[in-house]
Amino acid sequence: MAKQRRVHVCRECGAEHPTWTGRCPACRAWATVSEVAQPSAPRGRAGSGGAQPLADVGTDPALPVPVGVDEVDRVLGGGLTSGSVTLLAGEPGIGKSTLTLQVAASVAGAGGTVVLVAGEEAPSQVAARADRLGPVPPSLLVVDDCSVDAIAQVMRTERPQLLVVDSIQTVHDPAVDSIQGSVAQVKATAARLVAEAKRTGVSVLLIGHVTKEGAIAGPRVLEHVVDTVLQFDGERHGQLRFLRAVKHRFGPTDEVGIFDMTGSGLQAVPDPSTRYLQDRRPGLAGSVVVPVLSGRRPVLVEIQALAVEVGGRPGQITAKGVDGRRAALLAAVLASRAGYRVSGFDVFLSAVGGVTVDEPAADLGLTLAMASAIDGQPVAPDVVLCGEVGLGGEIRSVPLLEQRLQESYRLGFRTALAPGSAPDGPTGLRVLRHGDVPAALAAVPQHAPPSPDAEAVGNGGRSR
Ligand code: TYD
Ligand code: MG
Repeated sequence: MAKQRRVHVCRECGAEHPTWTGRCPACRAWATVSEVAQPSAPRGRAGSGGAQPLADVGTDPALPVPVGVDEVDRVLGGGLTSGSVTLLAGEPGIGKSTLTLQVAASVAGAGGTVVLVAGEEAPSQVAARADRLGPVPPSLLVVDDCSVDAIAQVMRTERPQLLVVDSIQTVHDPAVDSIQGSVAQVKATAARLVAEAKRTGVSVLLIGHVTKEGAIAGPRVLEHVVDTVLQFDGERHGQLRFLRAVKHRFGPTDEVGIFDMTGSGLQAVPDPSTRYLQDRRPGLAGSVVVPVLSGRRPVLVEIQALAVEVGGRPGQITAKGVDGRRAALLAAVLASRAGYRVSGFDVFLSAVGGVTVDEPAADLGLTLAMASAIDGQPVAPDVVLCGEVGLGGEIRSVPLLEQRLQESYRLGFRTALAPGSAPDGPTGLRVLRHGDVPAALAAVPQHAPPSPDAEAVGNGGRSR
């Protein structure tokens, strides 16, 4: 029989305290701490004792097994490792159940047994959704008993290749004196499932709901218990969804999977640049294209700026999909290094398509978008802009520029404005290297007016 130790645990936040206290020092909730017995577990892993040369220790032979949903395998660095525990975290309604059901059907379709623990929905609802998504393989099993003992039992008897738990907030352990979904329950049941996964070799995929604040019981407290944490997010009203690994014990954390939520489930978006640029109107003042990185994949995104002259009051900057403070900084650079009267305008900046552009590599694009909007002078449509901008107005180098230039060329762009240190791009792409913002402004190819006698528009913002 395992030795028990008595500890005092807060049922709100799961913090452990050596003695009873009326108010939890960790989360400040009143009357939530009570004494519970826990099996005493040594901290750290039990080892063989003796020291041995590190070079003689074999590396873990476990190789990832593809789940068969390409964008998921891309993020996982190949697939799921046997005995690993992966948490899929995201806001309610973002598509976690849909994604995991597609993964489950794919693994089962390839001949593996998959057990789906349905805690959020009745098995009949899960079946209806599965039907909508495609053929339902016979080795996809469903259970609706969410006690951790029942789940552990299924792992041992069925030995599935994959166990999906939807969601960890619905699993309970009767031995833990706390309500279902509380932090104490979530922590205890997840720890138990992790132990069971290691013991049986079953890969486990746990779904966890987070709110915008990330504060609700669950995923945040699990991050160090599981091997991998995948974050699933996107625009609530848009169709695009992004899957990222925020922690990954077995592979990279810098890949991003991109999906479209369609009427028949999540579809991969293998060529996001084309998707982002499909509705672009060339010749629009304030519109520029920047190659940014989505994971390790360069993606072309349109940045739009709109400048509306204000009279008598200082203008404001409003940003969507772009960091507002970064935009303010770049506006200040444009004003003081290139002489633009930015404060005379309300400037609106947006990354098109619901993407978030938070890379310094987009600085030059944001700066020239603002300048183009203020001047009313469109940038030529086949130009991409890439470079970080410093407070001195200098243009700095950015990582993976060569790949960004390749992707720009592939999508039909023929001129790139880039930092002085930029490599040569692919043949056919003209790389214009410039040291600072004023030089880039002078060199940026402008959109040719539709007819030779069309009137030149704007120039109102430039004071020198
Ligand atoms: P769901 O996977 O239930 O989200 P979560 O498990 O993260 O709470 O998906 C929620 C939304 O997705 C829901 O509003 C319906 C929509 N949806 C589709 O648009 N297409 C589909 O094929 C499916 C199954 C769901
Ligand atoms: Mg769900």
